[in-house]
Amino acid sequence: MHTSPILSVRVARKVAEALDISSFELVSVDGSALPAFTAGSHVDVHLPNGLIRQYSLCNDPRESGRYLIGVLRDASSRGGSRAMHDEIQEGQTLQISAPRNHFALAPEAKRNLLLAGGIGVTPILCMAEHLNATGADFEMHYASRTLERTAFYQRISDSAFAKQVQFHFDDGAAEQKLDLPALLAKPQAGTHLYVCGPKGFMDAVLANARAQGWPEEQLHYEFFTAEVVHSDSDASFDVKLASNGRIVRIPKDKTVAQALAEAGVDIMLSCEQGVCGTCLTRVLEGTPDHRDSYLLPEEQAANDQFTPCCSRSKSAMLVLDL
Ligand code: FES
Repeated sequence: MHTSPILSVRVARKVAEALDISSFELVSVDGSALPAFTAGSHVDVHLPNGLIRQYSLCNDPRESGRYLIGVLRDASSRGGSRAMHDEIQEGQTLQISAPRNHFALAPEAKRNLLLAGGIGVTPILCMAEHLNATGADFEMHYASRTLERTAFYQRISDSAFAKQVQFHFDDGAAEQKLDLPALLAKPQAGTHLYVCGPKGFMDAVLANARAQGWPEEQLHYEFFTAEVVHSDSDASFDVKLASNGRIVRIPKDKTVAQALAEAGVDIMLSCEQGVCGTCLTRVLEGTPDHRDSYLLPEEQAANDQFTPCCSRSKSAMLVLDL
């Protein structure tokens, strides 16, 4: 179960960074230092409407007095990004979790290749700040649709590491477009690749890297939103609660978490898209049909845990450690 301590923070500044992207500077309500964080960390933001959303920290991790997050107003938002944009104003207090990092830099890397797509720039920018501060070897590529949708363009252009960053605009000239096959050709031992962005961008980067022979341990990625694949062939199945033997039917049009909630069994949820790991539940028997982007392929293959917010079952019954 997710038990991260809750911090009260105040929105010290809200800035329109680009079309449909705002940044929020969060400081502690009493002015004290905030818990330290490492590059790639995110916080859970508890929104007034009850939703919990994850946002990556995009400021320099050496800063102890503030957390900076960037939020895209997502047209397909289920209420999270819309609430951040429309309801959260400067001066307001928010509850957040302490930072957690599922997207850490590899300390053994000799060289770092950072790839950001759109709003995925937030953790990547934090990594660039850290790598620059520590004198590490890195190169960053930032792909976005247009200049007006490119958050932090000025900050990056004015930074000490501006020369290590290349911007790529979808509506720009052909020669500035991100050429993945060329960039990812000939993977080198010691070079680690980090990618964050929309799913299509990440899938393209990772597929390209894998096709060119990048070893899995040199690939690092974090999906913030993912399309959970629903299929017409989704079937109903049963879930058994190991603690009391109770069996709950999961209909084909409900998630395990939804069906359990209707049966009075609440599972802590956050993203409900298989990206955050909040709902992770141990599987004691049966074979899950993993639909998440949170577990690593080898963790999914172990079949001893799954994400009931989106994953289903390949077997007629799953016995859960509930
Ligand atoms: Fe985020 Fe299930 S709630 S993975």
